[in-house]
Amino acid sequence: MADAEGMKESVNFQPKIAQETQGFFLKGSNSLEWGMKNRLARIFNPKSGRTVMLAFDHGYIMGPTSGLERMDLTIVPLIEHSDCIMCTRGALRALVPPAMDKPVSLRYSAGTTVLTELNDECVMDIEEASRLNASLLAVMVAVGDRFEAVTMRNLTKTVDMGTRYGIPTLGVTAIGKDMARDSRYLSMAARVCAENGAHVVKTYFCEGFEKVAASCPVPIVLAGGKKLPELDALTMASRAMDQGACGVDMGRNVFQSEDPVAMLKAVKAVVHDNETPQRAFELFQTLKNQS
Ligand code: R5P
Repeated sequence: MADAEGMKESVNFQPKIAQETQGFFLKGSNSLEWGMKNRLARIFNPKSGRTVMLAFDHGYIMGPTSGLERMDLTIVPLIEHSDCIMCTRGALRALVPPAMDKPVSLRYSAGTTVLTELNDECVMDIEEASRLNASLLAVMVAVGDRFEAVTMRNLTKTVDMGTRYGIPTLGVTAIGKDMARDSRYLSMAARVCAENGAHVVKTYFCEGFEKVAASCPVPIVLAGGKKLPELDALTMASRAMDQGACGVDMGRNVFQSEDPVAMLKAVKAVVHDNETPQRAFELFQTLKNQS
């Protein structure tokens, strides 16, 4: 216990040195409170301002899709090479070692599967997210879909509850049925997520992506989408970074790759080191041949 007697005199006030007021490195995040900023600074590298999130939450609507049949064998070894993991609470509890030191983007909405009509979802309990030490709450938002209002209410509720606990929200733009995946639609979907409180938005690449990124006031992370040849996926990631994305949240293009660890390292080279797609692909091939 601190002792009130014999206290050393305080002399180191340095009144001539003004206390520095630092801004926060992440787009649109300067007015957030400390807990939110701290969580975001664990997800986004403060040096590059970017992140490589590893998404393996697909099972919540797709079941054991290719590459995720045995996540203990295919995904757990990848975790150390990512900046953040995005998964369901089921996978987290059952398979992810609690001693790992990566922030968790928790799949926070759930509902219909690919066997019916997607996006009719609800959200989890915020205390559950807190128990699981979530750093980000991922909610599906389906602009232009039959379930648009349902998903928008889920986003609103998540932002409200997350704000109470200092946990930021990731608005995931599900492409509404019959919607074109173009810059006009994705600009609207991303902007609607941000205006309704999402602290980070996840969306797809498209021609004119710079308009999507520029008109979204919070960071955008790129969703990978279906598996592409490695060079094409690296090219897409590189173009998205050049056009204003703050990282990727990639799943199938990593865990369905011939060599997922090599691919994850190549994606990191593009995202954090601005490596060209060709050089990142060469890195991928070199690493693949070594394993
Ligand atoms: C989509 O609903 C999930 O949130 C996935 O995590 C997301 O689509 C990213 O995975 P992929 O890169 O495979 O598209």
